[in-house]
Amino acid sequence: MLLIAGAWASSCDMASSPAAVKDLMCEGQESPLGIDREQPRFQWKISDARRGAAQTAYRLLVASDPALLAAGRGDLWDSGKVESDQSVHVEYRGKPLESGAFYCWKVKIWDQGGEESGWSEPAFWEMGLLAPGDWKAQWIARSADRPGRAVWMRKEISIPGSAISRARLFVTGLGSYQFRINGEKVGNDLLTPGWTDFRKRVEYQVYDVTDFLQPGGNALGVELGNMWWSGGLGWRGGVKYAEGPLKCLAQLQVETGEGSSLLFVTDTTWKWHESAIVYDHIYHGETYDANLEQPGWDDPGFDDSAWAFALAASYEGELTGPRFPALRRQLEITPVNLTEPQPGEYVFDLGQNMVGWARFLAEGDPGDTIRFRFSELLHDDGTIAQENLRTARATDLYISNGEPRLWEPRFTYHGFRYVQVSGLRKKPAQTDLTGVVIHTSDPFIGRLETSNQLINAIYRNITWGQRGNFFTVPTDCPQRDERLGWMGDAQIFAPTANFNMNLNRFWAKWMTDIADGQHEEGWVHDVNPAIVVEGPSKPGWGDACVIIPWHTYQYFGDTRILEEFYPVMKKWVDYMQGKSENLIYIWGQQGAWNGYGDWIAVEPTPSEPIGTAYFCYTARLLSKMAAILGNPSDSARYAGLAGAIAAAYHRKYWNPQTQNYPGATQTANLLPLAFHITPESLREQVVANLVTNVKEKDNHPTTGFLGTGYILPVLTATGNHELAYEMINQVTYPSWGYMVEKGATSIWELWNSDTERPEGMNSRNHFALGCVGEWMWNSLAGINICEEQPGFKRVIIRPQPAGNLAWVKAEYETNYGKLAVDWKLEGGKLLLNLVVPANTQAVIVPPLLKPGAVLKENGKPVSRGEVKGVSSDAQGHIVAAAGSYRFVLD
Ligand code: BGC
Repeated sequence: MLLIAGAWASSCDMASSPAAVKDLMCEGQESPLGIDREQPRFQWKISDARRGAAQTAYRLLVASDPALLAAGRGDLWDSGKVESDQSVHVEYRGKPLESGAFYCWKVKIWDQGGEESGWSEPAFWEMGLLAPGDWKAQWIARSADRPGRAVWMRKEISIPGSAISRARLFVTGLGSYQFRINGEKVGNDLLTPGWTDFRKRVEYQVYDVTDFLQPGGNALGVELGNMWWSGGLGWRGGVKYAEGPLKCLAQLQVETGEGSSLLFVTDTTWKWHESAIVYDHIYHGETYDANLEQPGWDDPGFDDSAWAFALAASYEGELTGPRFPALRRQLEITPVNLTEPQPGEYVFDLGQNMVGWARFLAEGDPGDTIRFRFSELLHDDGTIAQENLRTARATDLYISNGEPRLWEPRFTYHGFRYVQVSGLRKKPAQTDLTGVVIHTSDPFIGRLETSNQLINAIYRNITWGQRGNFFTVPTDCPQRDERLGWMGDAQIFAPTANFNMNLNRFWAKWMTDIADGQHEEGWVHDVNPAIVVEGPSKPGWGDACVIIPWHTYQYFGDTRILEEFYPVMKKWVDYMQGKSENLIYIWGQQGAWNGYGDWIAVEPTPSEPIGTAYFCYTARLLSKMAAILGNPSDSARYAGLAGAIAAAYHRKYWNPQTQNYPGATQTANLLPLAFHITPESLREQVVANLVTNVKEKDNHPTTGFLGTGYILPVLTATGNHELAYEMINQVTYPSWGYMVEKGATSIWELWNSDTERPEGMNSRNHFALGCVGEWMWNSLAGINICEEQPGFKRVIIRPQPAGNLAWVKAEYETNYGKLAVDWKLEGGKLLLNLVVPANTQAVIVPPLLKPGAVLKENGKPVSRGEVKGVSSDAQGHIVAAAGSYRFVLD
């Protein structure tokens, strides 16, 4: 019977199995344009609610034409039936792909019973420009007299024929650009092309502009501002990649209904003129003079006789297709309050520390200047406090031409909660201003809620820290004269970040920035893209070049980040080995300054040992990654190295008299425990040291950036979960709850941001201390990575109730589909609802609720093998196959 059904299904090309294939993605995106990988990767999800739903084989077709695909022909690639459960990161293995070409694909699967699904809906992608010679356009620039002064550039084109069937725009700029066709902005992306190491590369974007164009005359326009390229970065007064001049590169490919193919490119027949943006700077803000507007400049028929011809320009770096998810407007916030602390000075309170800009209904007489100043804080008198922005002026100016205008800036961004507006002729309405929240278009894929409101508030602040700082690179902060890709912050926060968003592409792009800045000796920079901060990276910071690929692979299961950046990681570990003496790696001179250490800790930990601790940790990760990449000799070499470093560390830093590590702080004990440096025989002692210290501090953390990543995970992992729970519940200094108590709506840079000097280094939106989010997911929701089957192919579900925690609900959109955990305690029982996505498995580790408690579903103990979908594996783990379950632990 089965056989007959299968044969019928394949001959009629219809589903006989209830499994359906959906959500096809190429390179992690739905129908992307501009893919510049020669072997793109595919993924799909399986929609099948049956217990045990899984894929046992797939067949994938890639065609150059939808008609071929519909007829079941893959002229580029027909994978044939591949016996495999792989449904993510499946690599293209067909004929060579061509520059700029369109491809479509579909896939079908065979399920756990060998039944064949129907074909998926078709999906498509388009290639980027693969070779430098595919660029026919010329870089064009404004004049060099005022190199960073914003400009418009324009060109009118004529498209013959009666219809446009397809049009693609390939475009980039240095610094930032907004491209316009016939008066309309192209695409939703903001601050393109984003930030890369411009000395080495710049990304281009690709847009479908078919609907923007019309047969006959069309106007192409671009506006350019400075942003990361030529504005100046860092607190040292502005380190620049270039002084300018602002320049652009664009190539428009048009196919007409009559079948002709046309190419329009930037060249010296384009014209330019200074724009209405008089000044723009990433930190200081934008000045816009509406009196300088030239209505219709981006429309056909505009008289540009007063404009100058563009100058030919060049760029030495590489052009890369769009690799990171663009910045887009994601939310809008209406102010919660409006005050007038001084006559004519209006302060809007958005109620949330946010990142983006303000849009304002600007009204005034010609020449009136409306001033917008942004801040995270208020002075006691209710005016904004900008002291902690250091030299960042965070001020936008709008000069009116007398017409009312809904205005927002284009080439700047601010981190703020308050906006002080002056220069108005009348009191504004609270709704005249809107907070436009901008962040990476990587969607939030995680949702975590608990019965504990304090934990929820901390979690909410963590997500806001991520929103405003995942800004084409992971920045330390979004408001002051810094906003750099600090490595230490990113590596410690990465697991939490990965629970919030699918950052596979984001991290891979950032690794390219890191690789671009790697010194030939093997050292990397503290901030990437490398700028502002010189010299070999410090312990815990440089190591991000190994830790980030590891976590990315663990969460998203993509080996490519390991393949691509293995040489970078290896060079870094080898560099540390080369600089070490008897395997002790010290940054700087012994006894002098040894790096940032456990940055901003309440109780400082000696920095010197941290170098060797991270050297050990990264060598071990490298060994694991070598094994995954099929390089057993490197794997053995680095495993051996890690073991030897651990022994050397222990010899040098363990004090047998005091039975402690130097400093005896929380972090001093945490790093050797977390990195498996402490010998087994002494672990108990080191855990006892940690617990004693925590209790002496009344259950408060005293850790800095590094230790904070480990304090709760290590306490929980070593049998001190209740203590960890006590710690997350603290509301006095220092604690995460203290920030909440003091009204924080995002994570602070310092445990005592409220009492520390108001000027100087004191950001109210710094995600690093938010790394505690990982622990909430792992131990409260109970969702844990399985190292051997990463990317949530197998997940470990281990909820750990504690204290007064009554319930937790968590949902996480894995590459396979939605994983959901929803548990509550009721009448001494634990009720656990679990959804395991198709084609994955969950290992369930029930909490030790009470002696003899048994996990059951519908009254049947799972251990007896009577619950459908649940079995025991070779190690005796309870394994739940895909499906929805309602367990009771009683
Ligand atoms: C940044 C940090 C960074 C640190 C290095 C600070 O100025 O804001 O987040 O990691 O410097 O110690």
